[in-house]
Amino acid sequence: MTAKPKVWVSRPLFPDVLARLSEHFDVQAEAIERRHMPEQLRERLLAVDGAVLGLADRVDAAVLEGNQRLRVIANLAVGYNNLDVPALTRAGVLACNTPDVLNETVADYAWALMLAAARRVSAAERWLRAGQWGSHMRFDDWLGVDVHGKTLGILGMGRIGQAIARRAAGFDMRVLYHNRSRLPEPIERECRATLVGKESLLKQADHLILVLPYNKANHHAIGAPELALMKRTAVLVNVARGGIVDEVALAAALREGRLAAAALDVFEGEPAVHPDLLSLDNALLSPHIASASEDTRRAMASLAADNVLAALGHGPHAGHPATPLNPEVMARWPRH
Ligand code: GLV
Repeated sequence: MTAKPKVWVSRPLFPDVLARLSEHFDVQAEAIERRHMPEQLRERLLAVDGAVLGLADRVDAAVLEGNQRLRVIANLAVGYNNLDVPALTRAGVLACNTPDVLNETVADYAWALMLAAARRVSAAERWLRAGQWGSHMRFDDWLGVDVHGKTLGILGMGRIGQAIARRAAGFDMRVLYHNRSRLPEPIERECRATLVGKESLLKQADHLILVLPYNKANHHAIGAPELALMKRTAVLVNVARGGIVDEVALAAALREGRLAAAALDVFEGEPAVHPDLLSLDNALLSPHIASASEDTRRAMASLAADNVLAALGHGPHAGHPATPLNPEVMARWPRH
């Protein structure tokens, strides 16, 4: 009997998903969350045919060096800025991500952050829990900014951006977006969204939500010059990647009242959060959980497992993983 292919899962995962993988593979799954240094990643990946990785696992040419065995990496995320896809392609390794299954859940969370930041929900709760709600609360304390009837700006209008836009109809909002390319007209109509230039978006948005993929070109796409264009009453929400925002410039704008509030689910150095942000009451901060509903995290894990199964020739979609990033590598694999 030939040995089962080996699959490494770099972070704890739902047991039923692991059990599905174990039917076909010799699965080594990490039991606790830990950060894998490049050399550890390299060692781990040298010994397996497939891997399910998280965003903290950075795979580049150096990590792949000398690896003749690895066939597939399934990223537990839609974003894949932790993977050097060209290097994976050169090494003949298929990369997969988890698009679509999280669109609506991330859109819900972007709205949760926008509403909470605009209405100062978490700061007010901190104040109440600190026992400060005595007889001295004034009628004009805790004033926030409205969401309904305002202009929603969306920077990056992929499938998550579109899901965010569709929700705006219920709040009677005007929706503006900026994107590399214009959406097809039927989608624009469904989203009730209008394409504008980036500068115009920054100037007009009462609430600006960032949903861009992160790459070199988008590094600090929102920095001091962009923040200077925004309204003093505006709210900024980032559910994309930390590196899209210059956090020092953002903290200065929030501190100096040049922006009403920001809500951030992602950080440039996460899990570290810039101390300038931690000290601000008008910055709402959450630990990268926009996709973290029970149903969606299960769907992401399941899709990642399906991708590994299919790439290594098992399951109903054997040979045809659903969400490959570099499917061309499969044509170069030896036939069995
Ligand atoms: C999370 O940030 C993801 O890309 O899925």
